[in-house]
This record gives sequence, C-alpha cells and structure tokens, in this order.
Amino acid sequence: MRLFLALWPDEAVRRQLALAQQAWQWPPRAARVPDDRLHLTLHFLGEVHEREARALVAALPPCTAPFTLRLGRAALWPRGIAVLESSDTPAGLATLHADLAALLRAQGMRVETRAFRPHVTLARHAQGAVPPVEQPAIEWAVRGYALVRSLAGTPLRYEPIARA
Ligand code: 2AM
Repeated sequence: MRLFLALWPDEAVRRQLALAQQAWQWPPRAARVPDDRLHLTLHFLGEVHEREARALVAALPPCTAPFTLRLGRAALWPRGIAVLESSDTPAGLATLHADLAALLRAQGMRVETRAFRPHVTLARHAQGAVPPVEQPAIEWAVRGYALVRSLAGTPLRYEPIARA
C-alpha cells in the first residue's frame, strides 16, 4: 500500500485551509487539492508491504509535545506547487519529524534527506497562480498525527489508517 505520515486537520482547520485555497486566483490548468485531501506531509513512505505497515502502526510514537503551527505564508514554489507554509518550525514539530525519521530508519524504510519544510500543498500545476495579498495565519493546534493510505482511483482518496 502507498503510505505517508501526515498532520491531518480536524474539520475546523480543514475549513480554514479550504478558505485559504479559495483566496488565490487560479489559472485554469491548476489542479487544486480537494478539501478532503488537504494535509501536511511529515514523511512520504511510498509503497509499503502490509506486514511492514502493521509493524509501523504498532511502533508509532505518541505526539508527546503538542504544538501550535501558524500557517501564514501563501507561496508559489518552483514547478507550480502552491503552498501554505509556516514561517518557522515549532520545536514540537521538529521533534516529531525527527522521531518519526528515526523510527522509519529503524524499520528499514527510506527517509527523505532534504530539509523538512512544513507546508500544506494547495494546488499543483499552478504556474501563474496569484496568492492573496494578505494571508491571515491559520493557527493549527496539533495534538497528533496520522498514517495515511493513498488509494489509487478516480478520484484519488486519502484514508487515515492509524492515528497517534
Ligand atoms: P506534498 O504535499 O509536499 O506534495 C501524499 O501523496 C503526499 O506525499 C503528497 O501530499 C506529497 O506531499 C507527498 N509525496 C508524494 N509523492 C512524493 C514523493 N515521491 N516524494 C516525496 N513526497 C511525496
């Protein structure tokens, strides 16, 4: 199964993320992420065997240091990736990200070596999109995270299969 670890928004945060997405001007070819798929990726795992996934679920550490993430920057990254990002990485998020990286390595899984830039992807193929002049910061009180399954199909679906 295709898996990733993510901060999964509750309904209130999801609504705010969707509103932030609506505040952009999108060119016709932009592929906006549907509301029910908005999330912040911690680690992308790719294809994982069911047995490895079960071992991972059993080992997921609790989120011991809750934190608040302030998403206040709307930006267009290279190759048309439109994001909402935070200007800094709260200590709790850095710790959680590092703890999960260590767990993945211990389980023999591949871990992204690029620096972690916390962001919510709002759209892809969005070259020419115009972000809002002002982006009110979204305060996301994070108390946990999820292991999410990406289910191929039309439409693509994301399904949290475990929460910690
Ligand atoms: P993104 O939001 O930064 O694009 C689920 O597919 C999530 O995993 C996506 O939202 C994406 O994060 C991330 N992802 C997908 N494919 C990836 C890859 N090949 N390498 C790293 N991250 C990937």
